[in-house]
Amino acid sequence: MIETWLTRELGLEVPILGAPMGGRAGGRLAAEVTKAGGLGMLGAAGYATPEWIETESAVAKSAGDFGAGFMVWSLDQDDTALDLVLAQSPRIVSLSFGDPALYVRRVHEAGALVASQINDLDDLAVVEAAGVDIVIAQGAEAGGHTGHVATLPLLQEVLDATTRPVLAAGGIGTGRGLAAVLAAGAQGALVGTALLASPETVGPEYARGKLVAARSTDTVYTSVFDRARNIAWPQRWGGRALANDFSRRWHGAQSFDGIEADYDGSDSDLGVVYAGQIAGTVTAERPVADVVRALASDAEALLRRFA
Ligand SMILES: Cc1cc2nc3c(=O)[nH]c(=O)nc-3n(C[C@H](O)[C@H](O)[C@H](O)COP(=O)(O)O)c2cc1C
Repeated sequence: MIETWLTRELGLEVPILGAPMGGRAGGRLAAEVTKAGGLGMLGAAGYATPEWIETESAVAKSAGDFGAGFMVWSLDQDDTALDLVLAQSPRIVSLSFGDPALYVRRVHEAGALVASQINDLDDLAVVEAAGVDIVIAQGAEAGGHTGHVATLPLLQEVLDATTRPVLAAGGIGTGRGLAAVLAAGAQGALVGTALLASPETVGPEYARGKLVAARSTDTVYTSVFDRARNIAWPQRWGGRALANDFSRRWHGAQSFDGIEADYDGSDSDLGVVYAGQIAGTVTAERPVADVVRALASDAEALLRRFA
């Protein structure tokens, strides 16, 4: 068993958090990560209704502890969902993509730890000043919204710059990746894309098949899906998704007239499938618990070579 600050603090068997993934990570996925010895997190996107939060938290909690993730820029517009989640007693709450200072105390008072995904050293200064408990270095190869520095360069500079516990996110999908970041000094990993071909995900039916078929070269870092769906992500964060007919048509366009009308999320060649470069290693639809257990045991075997 791999023991780190994260496993000791949260009582985990494996140093893995299931990434909060808006639109894809509900209670079932979170519960399966937790059952496999990690800790699962709900993607509580801005459009999550109170009913969704209550139902999915209950499912997640049926397995033990759970967490939830928020976009700070979205909380700055409406933070109702944060209180709804805190009422469900999460063990950990991630406050990413913005300055979490306004919300950290509220989360602590509810008894949860605060984690923040960061994309550069300026972000590190912001989240440290805000008093977060865990820093997650999220590299540009990650699925979903992210920054511009890749996981390994970012992780190395963040580990050198902070005394807080650091996790790595972005491109970790096999025991090799987990072993690499643990050996570097991370206390664990936040894993997203590697779980996305699992039957426990929610979202469009076609997404799992697209992910299994995708290679590591098939993603695009773009804002066209946000534009099309009128989601007000700050410009600094693009989203990494599988390239498809829609992104090929609009990414890099000079004018976006007509982009909203052109988008159809129910069409498998147009709808967004957010996913990272590690998609290339996802070659079958596997249950979440199998993925999490294999990640941990393969990493352990690799790390034992140096014991
Ligand atoms: C489909 C999808 C949705 C995501 N939604 C969110 C989100 O709502 N909030 C958040 O903080 N991060 C979100 N992320 C980013 C993940 O939390 C995490 O950083 C990322 O999945 C890690 O990289 P990986 O995909 O290579 O494992 C999302 C990622 C994906 C793939």
